[in-house]
Amino acid sequence: MNAQTKIDDAGFRPASRIASIGVSKILQIGARASAMKRDGLPVIILGAGEPDFDTPDNVKAAAKAAIDRGETKYTALDGTPELKKAIAEKFRRENGVDYALDEITVATGAKQILFNAFMASIDPGDEVIIPTPYWTSYSDIVEICGGTAVLVPCDAEAGFRLNAEQLEKAITPKTRWVLLNSPSNPSGAAYGEADYRPLLDVLMQHPHVWLMVDDMYEHIVYDGFKFVTPAALEPRLKPRTLTINGVSKAYAMTGWRIGYAGGPKALIKAMAVIQSQATSCPSSVSQAASVEALNGPQDFLVERQRSFKARRDLVVAALNAIDGIECRVPEGAFYTFAGCGGVIGKTTPKGKRLETDSDFTDYLLEDAHVAVVPGSAFGLSPFFRISYATSEAELKEALQRIATACQQLAG
Ligand SMILES: Cc1ncc(COP(=O)(O)O)c(C=O)c1O
Repeated sequence: MNAQTKIDDAGFRPASRIASIGVSKILQIGARASAMKRDGLPVIILGAGEPDFDTPDNVKAAAKAAIDRGETKYTALDGTPELKKAIAEKFRRENGVDYALDEITVATGAKQILFNAFMASIDPGDEVIIPTPYWTSYSDIVEICGGTAVLVPCDAEAGFRLNAEQLEKAITPKTRWVLLNSPSNPSGAAYGEADYRPLLDVLMQHPHVWLMVDDMYEHIVYDGFKFVTPAALEPRLKPRTLTINGVSKAYAMTGWRIGYAGGPKALIKAMAVIQSQATSCPSSVSQAASVEALNGPQDFLVERQRSFKARRDLVVAALNAIDGIECRVPEGAFYTFAGCGGVIGKTTPKGKRLETDSDFTDYLLEDAHVAVVPGSAFGLSPFFRISYATSEAELKEALQRIATACQQLAG
């Protein structure tokens, strides 16, 4: 936070709070891949974190009806009563957790929920424990808010999951939050009840530590995995747990920008103070659409889950058939996070030695025209993330190209 920033050529001096933060590597790769595509190269982009499905028709119709009813003005600061009611019912129905309406907040995406929560609760020097690999935004948001991200590596052998011993060791008097994400972006790893239980026991011993859970990929789980959320598992922790969720991934509504959370009233109120000076309220039309998403038919979720599972199986099998690549079977989300340690040290046909996972993903983009994201962007190397939220035909072609590119490496 105290890092010096430099005045650029045009006389602009960025604030010190962004000195250590660059533009997201994921966005950089996306921009480069899109530019290559515009230049006529047949690039396949497996970098984006959004479903390729369309927003359901009933949700679109609800948004149109809201516009026709004139619901185009500012709404209540942190969510309309109708949406908060739908969220409270969702938490009760799907998660077995009771949140009153004043324990619920709605924001412009789960990203703003995270931002509001950290802005409202972190003082300089406060620590947030984040298991790695982690969704890139977590540490950047913590840093922007003046906190310190305490990154705890969780390797593939550990199923990319934090264990009780690691958690105990990472907690200090300055720890404010532990942030868990299940199923995870980027690893697809998820915490079942048996994985959560020892962590919650540790937290019971440290009353100054609060728990933030990001359940964004709740509905995308496979092989009968039973999704659970900590506030339901350990009601004694509920008064210091923030349960984050949203409509972006499950309902293919990334552009509608609605995220929500349930948590203790005092925190929810403090988050509203931040939101009141940032966006005033979430979009009125998107909130009406989200009411329908949560209250309307849910059966299509199973259908989409089936389709994601077929793609996951295809990707995992193809990756594991490549020499030098190792991929764990993820429990959920729509990402694989494969180890590429076996290709590090090898040389490309153009004579470049691959030193890092970033070198490997650059090689895949330049020579095989496949855009994927290096593990370094998520705090754990040497790995790379594939987002398989795209058609099976594209996935097959991309995996064939990755296999060929790996075969062409020497050394
Ligand atoms: C784990 C996780 N949480 C939250 C978000 C943000 O979702 P939203 O679109 O609601 O801001 C993402 C988006 O990629 C994500 O991967």
